[in-house]
Amino acid sequence: MKRYRLSVCKGSSCKAGGSDAVAQAAREELSARSLQPRCELYRGGCYGFCHMGPNVVIREETGRKRDPLSPEDYQLMGWEGEAYYSHMTPEKMRRVVAEHIAQDKPVIELFGHPEEAEG
Ligand code: FES
Repeated sequence: MKRYRLSVCKGSSCKAGGSDAVAQAAREELSARSLQPRCELYRGGCYGFCHMGPNVVIREETGRKRDPLSPEDYQLMGWEGEAYYSHMTPEKMRRVVAEHIAQDKPVIELFGHPEEAEG
């Protein structure tokens, strides 16, 4: 069974865009589905994609050794099993928990594409 770490950006732009409500929705949905043992909820950021927020990053926990500076908490790493979701809302967050976390099915249509969004 896969394990995950779900980070909701806590940077000021994402916060202004509603990231606290997104984090709250994640907490509630993980709890309603009893998924806490499989998914740690964390507040990361700022990832540098403020214009695309609220931003959420989900990574599969593979037992990788954690860098003491935890760069993964504020940037995308390009690791396998890393998913970046942009423009998140509480509704989208619930869907991502239901599909990505509960069924191991990343919601590809909600992925953000930072390379296309400059400017
Ligand atoms: S504040 Fe969230 S990416 Fe910058």
